[in-house]
Amino acid sequence: MKDIRVGLIGFGTVGSGLAQTLFEQNERLFRKVGARFVLSRVVDINLPKLPDQFAGTTLSRDVNDIFNDPDIDIVVELIGGLEPARTFLLEAISHKKHVVTANKALLSIHGKEIFEAAVKNNVEVGFEASVGGGIPVIKALKEGLVANRILSIMGIMNGTANYILTKMTDEDLPFEEALRTAQELGFAEADPTYDIEGIDTAHKLAISLSLAYGKRVRLEDIYREGIAKTSPLDIEFAGDLGYTIKLLAIAIRRGGLIEARIHPTMIPFDHILASVNGNFNAFHLMGDNSGSVFLYGQGAGMMPTASAVVGDLVDIARDIMAGTWRRVPLRSYKKDQIEDIHLLPMDDVVTNYYF
Ligand code: HSE
Repeated sequence: MKDIRVGLIGFGTVGSGLAQTLFEQNERLFRKVGARFVLSRVVDINLPKLPDQFAGTTLSRDVNDIFNDPDIDIVVELIGGLEPARTFLLEAISHKKHVVTANKALLSIHGKEIFEAAVKNNVEVGFEASVGGGIPVIKALKEGLVANRILSIMGIMNGTANYILTKMTDEDLPFEEALRTAQELGFAEADPTYDIEGIDTAHKLAISLSLAYGKRVRLEDIYREGIAKTSPLDIEFAGDLGYTIKLLAIAIRRGGLIEARIHPTMIPFDHILASVNGNFNAFHLMGDNSGSVFLYGQGAGMMPTASAVVGDLVDIARDIMAGTWRRVPLRSYKKDQIEDIHLLPMDDVVTNYYF
């Protein structure tokens, strides 16, 4: 019987959720895949010991223990940040390991290098957890909606910003206090500027854009405005006019060009995105055949994010069992069909504004 051996880099919140899921769901996953997941090795420089139920897993501080273990099929990177995560992923790929990551910053900046290395080494890259946490939006864009030209994407892609705006709206909480609570709840980025200034949202929009349109964008081309300047008075005025304020990521196909922007947006109360509150995320996708598709759920957190990582592990394991790989192109479009684009400049975007 085939085992699928996993090496995990980073036993933090999501890493421990992944280990727990592989442990608790082992039998059910076996029945779905026809192979058993084994968490062979964990590398974490801060962890003195693994919880007791992982007695069969080796803990070490040296990431080379994973790369040099010939039995490991898939390496999961859950440390976040650009370096050393980039080096670790490239090293794993060069050792012919499939990789899974939740690292949106890394993929939106170094995705080209990582995906090209994966193609060269005939391995897969799973990244469902990088956008929308437990919401399977990557799979929707790559597979479920493949028959569509995606006309638009509108997303609440950052739970922290949405939580802050919800608290400011519902409880009249000042910005700083709402942010502090979000940090205590553990879904803010290590540097919360990423959440507040829309940088994290830009990482996720850049990844979504490449899957939806086959276009690779530079992060700096995405117009971005955060929520730090949104005041309780703006929220009150918007409410009086029948709108709620959300930090929205917007991508719209305009003929041959794509408009992409992130900013606080006034959404009419009766729009489905207006009801997405707290730390929830949501994606409103418009396909030319499917029409409107709405995905809603937890965009962060231990078990929702682990759910997405395990989804990738299962995809890869199923390919291993079928003796195939990259049945679905890594970025949805074939490698030679992905183009660099410059987006429609914000000055050319026609829309309504509130001053
Ligand atoms: N800081 C992110 C958020 C975590 O608040 O949505 C998930 O990417």
